[in-house]
Amino acid sequence: MSTAKKEYKRITVKSLIEMKKNGEKIAMLTAYDYSMAKIVDHAGIDVILVGDSASNVMAGHETTLPITLDQMIYHASSVVRAIERCLVLVDLPFGTYQGNSRKALESAIKIMKESGAHAVKLEGGAEISESISRILTAGIPVMGHLGLTPQSIYKFGTYTVRAKEEEEAEKLKKDAKLLEELGCFGLVLEKVPATLAKEVAESISIPVIGIGAGNGVDGQVLVIHDMLGMTHEFNPRFLRRYLDLYTEMNGAFKQYIDDVKSRDFPSDKEQY
Ligand code: KIV
Repeated sequence: MSTAKKEYKRITVKSLIEMKKNGEKIAMLTAYDYSMAKIVDHAGIDVILVGDSASNVMAGHETTLPITLDQMIYHASSVVRAIERCLVLVDLPFGTYQGNSRKALESAIKIMKESGAHAVKLEGGAEISESISRILTAGIPVMGHLGLTPQSIYKFGTYTVRAKEEEEAEKLKKDAKLLEELGCFGLVLEKVPATLAKEVAESISIPVIGIGAGNGVDGQVLVIHDMLGMTHEFNPRFLRRYLDLYTEMNGAFKQYIDDVKSRDFPSDKEQY
């Protein structure tokens, strides 16, 4: 397996497809605001996903369903203002593309126009193919999302691993092929068995980005609050925590409170 890493000044959808061809893994993280996006972009991330997980981690909703198109645009435009190199991908939120391809096109155009983002992501396969095709006719790059699709949580009932059974796995494989044929530039596979994800990634030419889908895919994505350890109550098996920010931040806030209460802050040097 090649570990070649070409230098890209700017990441485009073409760069991502080239990375897959060259065997270079794609690194993607979510971000929802200017300051975080700036750090992530400077670190060299390939793709920032302005995910509708903002509904959970930024707004405190239980699901991704309540977030609106205007709220996604607010988050996406903050991220776009911060970045210099990475590709910015934005989720079309629940209710803005399902069952109405005209509405889907309008939603995607609104996101692209008002946020300055580079591509959109939609959840689902055959059932949303008309919406995907129509968005693509406007020259807007589309990424698919299969497996656990959180906008359908009330259909699934739980956030457990998807496509463990033959029938669902077969549909997923067909949907992945269809998304490639429609012209999607990539695909997120969420919480599916690693062997199935590897098979899908090997069967299509567009990059497959996994979350809880093992190491046989073309790249990985994590929700930034989870990988930084800010959401310490969320512990799925697939999650690798790179920091324990909950503990770090909690300690800093406690220290600040103590310093203020004890009159230690501000010191003589910290005043005018
Ligand atoms: O909204 C999101 O953060 C996502 C990722 C989990 C892939 O869609």
